[in-house]
Amino acid sequence: MTMAVDRPHPISLADGKEYVIGDAVEVLSSIDDADVICLDDAWSRPHRGGQFGVEYDTHPFDHEHNDSATSTKLVVDACMEALNPGGWLIADADDWLLPRLTSYLMDEYGDVNDDYGGGGYRKVGSVTYLSSDGTPDRSTPGMYGSTGGYSVVFGHKGETERRWSESVRQVVPRQREKFGWGSVKPIVPYKKWVSDILNPDDHLVVPCAGTAPAALGAEIAFGASIRYTCIDNEPDAYNAFRRRAREEGTVEADALNLPDLLS
Ligand SMILES: C[S@@+](CC[C@H](N)C(=O)[O-])C[C@H]1O[C@@H](n2cnc3c(N)ncnc32)[C@H](O)[C@@H]1O
Repeated sequence: MTMAVDRPHPISLADGKEYVIGDAVEVLSSIDDADVICLDDAWSRPHRGGQFGVEYDTHPFDHEHNDSATSTKLVVDACMEALNPGGWLIADADDWLLPRLTSYLMDEYGDVNDDYGGGGYRKVGSVTYLSSDGTPDRSTPGMYGSTGGYSVVFGHKGETERRWSESVRQVVPRQREKFGWGSVKPIVPYKKWVSDILNPDDHLVVPCAGTAPAALGAEIAFGASIRYTCIDNEPDAYNAFRRRAREEGTVEADALNLPDLLS
């Protein structure tokens, strides 16, 4: 693990596009115009032994029962605060996080499904991985069924006028290349979602960004016109993002500056 920086360090990638090395809650508190936020939070289960092999910082769901400085609740609150009215939160989850996250969104921000109005929790979607023979992936270890992908929670801040029709359930080849990072997600689902929900010139924010598949998806979909802010507290996450932007061959080579770290 590398040392995280003390103060947010913004790296300019292009006009309106930056990767900030800093704490998600701290950096989100300086943003008040996000149109979509794609969050793959660095949560950990209370008994998640050895953090399942990930080397980056993780935090508990609830800071009130733990001495951790941050928590999923604080990150979600900071996301909702940073969104414009009607802006969308798209948050990755697993079997442990999904019920906790949906309950928290419903309790704190509302349940659109309950009264067909307002904001808060809207939908549960998913990303299902395909193995090379085209069947749903079954490589997840365990004796009680295989997940082969993950859930995704969709919510919005208050009433929304952003209508969109892309499926919240996506099926894609398993993400094999990790670019030297952990928990790396495929670009395609986020590219489809953000390109449907966002307009050119809108602002996408990607806290706990890692290799930032949502930002790269927006880059592919919109090119120069989209604005985005990626946030991660690990300098090496930016290096992994840089590798991904260059190596995945989906972003035009000269579209982003991708400067050396802390140059
Ligand atoms: C689940 S991973 C995201 C992986 C990403 N979806 C991808 O495809 O590469 C969570 C990320 O959150 C970052 N992180 C952990 N604590 C953080 C914090 N307090 N503020 C910002 N980022 C944080 C980790 O460094 C890690 O890159």
